[in-house]
Amino acid sequence: MSGRRALVTSANRGIGLAIAKGLTAAGCRVFLGVRDLTAANKIADDIGVRAVELDVSDQTSIDRAVDAIGTVDILVNNAGVLGSGNLLDDPEDFEQSMSVMVHGPYRLMHLLAPAMVRNRYGRIVNVSSGWGAFSDGVSGPAAYGVAKAALNALTVASARTLPQDVKVNAMCPGWVRTRMGGAAASRSPEEGADTAIWLATLDANGPTGGFFRDRKPIDW
Ligand SMILES: NC(=O)c1ccc[n+]([C@@H]2O[C@H](COP(=O)([O-])OP(=O)(O)OC[C@H]3O[C@@H](n4cnc5c(N)ncnc54)[C@H](OP(=O)(O)O)[C@@H]3O)[C@@H](O)[C@H]2O)c1
Repeated sequence: MSGRRALVTSANRGIGLAIAKGLTAAGCRVFLGVRDLTAANKIADDIGVRAVELDVSDQTSIDRAVDAIGTVDILVNNAGVLGSGNLLDDPEDFEQSMSVMVHGPYRLMHLLAPAMVRNRYGRIVNVSSGWGAFSDGVSGPAAYGVAKAALNALTVASARTLPQDVKVNAMCPGWVRTRMGGAAASRSPEEGADTAIWLATLDANGPTGGFFRDRKPIDW
């Protein structure tokens, strides 16, 4: 993977940071997409990568980040928000969930996939959730499951429109000890990151358009 350029969104903590560290260890040149650049610069220095300001719910921020980074070989759409309460009671949560977990990933793919196609190499990993699976009832609080189901749909449809050498896959990290997952969760961030790192570094024969947990296909 030496020299492959990778953008990981929301890589300042949790699963995103573990993915960034794993890709750095695999030899990639990693960019941490972060909302708070000042706080993240220290993290980036510690692991020897560069942080770039990126709020995935803000088109201007996305445009600036892509301008600053240029092209990438690997995009990991990891940003996520977990609301609470009932789906139909909270239109603001719905808007934010769709913005962070669907529109942001779409916009980044729109801007970054063309160079992957030109370079005949790309790996896009959408960090989803079992709660976004129809086979699991599209569960989770508020709009979370709806947004992850839409991210899964984006994965399937975009994989169909891209050539085989630009692979797009979705994954579920399992229940992970992060701010979102809570202290009681069963997995470490490194365990949660493993399948995303594997998908981000797939060889030419690897799958595209799939949904994975623990490196194995799971039902949509
Ligand atoms: N933890 C679990 O058990 C679990 C299970 C299934 C799926 N996932 C998925 O795994 C991914 C990572 O979650 P995590 O567990 O690592 O959660 P986390 O520690 O709470 O991290 C969430 C990240 O999303 C960022 N974020 C929120 N809104 C954003 C925006 N508008 N633009 C850019 N970044 C934004 C946060 O940035 P700030 O630090 O600036 O707030 C933070 O870096 C998410 O997509 C989540 O849905 C997690």
